[in-house]
Amino acid sequence: MLEKFERYPLMFGPTPIERLGRLSEALGGEVEIFAKRDDCNSGLAFGGNKIRKLEYIVPDAIASNADTLVTIGGVQSNHTRQVAAVAAKLGMKCRLVQESWVPFEDAVYDRVGNILMSRVMGAEIEFVDEGFDIGIRESWERALEDVKAKGGKPYPIPAGASVHPLGGLGYVGFAEEVRAQEAEMGIRFDYVIVCTVTGSTHAGMLVGFAKDGRARNVIGIDASATPAQTHAQVLDIARSTADLIGLGRPIADDDLVLIEDYAYPAYGIPSAETNDAIRLCARTEGMMTDPVYEGKSMQGLIDLARKGFFPAGSKVLYAHLGGVPAINAYSYVYRNG
Ligand SMILES: Cc1ncc(COP(=O)(O)O)c(C=O)c1O
Repeated sequence: MLEKFERYPLMFGPTPIERLGRLSEALGGEVEIFAKRDDCNSGLAFGGNKIRKLEYIVPDAIASNADTLVTIGGVQSNHTRQVAAVAAKLGMKCRLVQESWVPFEDAVYDRVGNILMSRVMGAEIEFVDEGFDIGIRESWERALEDVKAKGGKPYPIPAGASVHPLGGLGYVGFAEEVRAQEAEMGIRFDYVIVCTVTGSTHAGMLVGFAKDGRARNVIGIDASATPAQTHAQVLDIARSTADLIGLGRPIADDDLVLIEDYAYPAYGIPSAETNDAIRLCARTEGMMTDPVYEGKSMQGLIDLARKGFFPAGSKVLYAHLGGVPAINAYSYVYRNG
């Protein structure tokens, strides 16, 4: 589906699929749970889902002769950390706008985890006191202008690399990769669980799995707590990505499954149930998830399994998209484990 697009390799290769036997048992043993480990996809500053997206964006950035990648996220954004790593790898500069998306005040919130790494990798960081919003932000547009005014050539990457014409391609590739792995493993996944916020991860998967009629088997777990905006953005990106690759069939509104029940109390704030899910996964599998994204999709997976959402015998693939560095900014929450 992606042959006509240039890809700049940033990942180690296809990411492993691992059976989570002890977690499956802990949830009653009726469904078999697997994880696709996009959290360990690259040597670039711990990797994650943006690295997979950026493989299709970097060729355009290089062709534009830009000298500075300019992007935006929250203070503990995984995305900005991954863009900083890619800029370092390419020998470009990096300008990051970090907005106050999360009302959380751990003493070291703006010192550890993702932002620590972005600083070490040499990114220029600007804090902007604006709340959570996945849309196009004025602060980011101002940063682009500022780079130009100072004689630089910026390359714009929106939040999550999502509302970028090529932003959906990486996760179309994920679906292709899963299909090849299914053939090797001799199995077929009935469901894929994905954490959804800025939208291009889910949108790309939706398009990629639409090829074999499985768009609705991709279960998005909203972690934005602004689900109407996320829902609209996923559909937009899925449709533009489907056009771009020539999918040859329309994306219907009900191709998108987005469950809103686990994002509470707010973006970036874990509930008691999110924390229980993080602990259960860590204690059965040694697999770490974070309080902002993957802990919420893990909570969704666990709750849906317990509620019998997946018919007995189902094979469920949890897409682990990274994000663990942010847990360091929540040190007080986990002070006793
Ligand atoms: C670890 C992690 N999981 C999930 C997501 C959600 O992906 P998307 O923004 O493409 O919806 C993000 C980024 O926003 C992330 O960093």
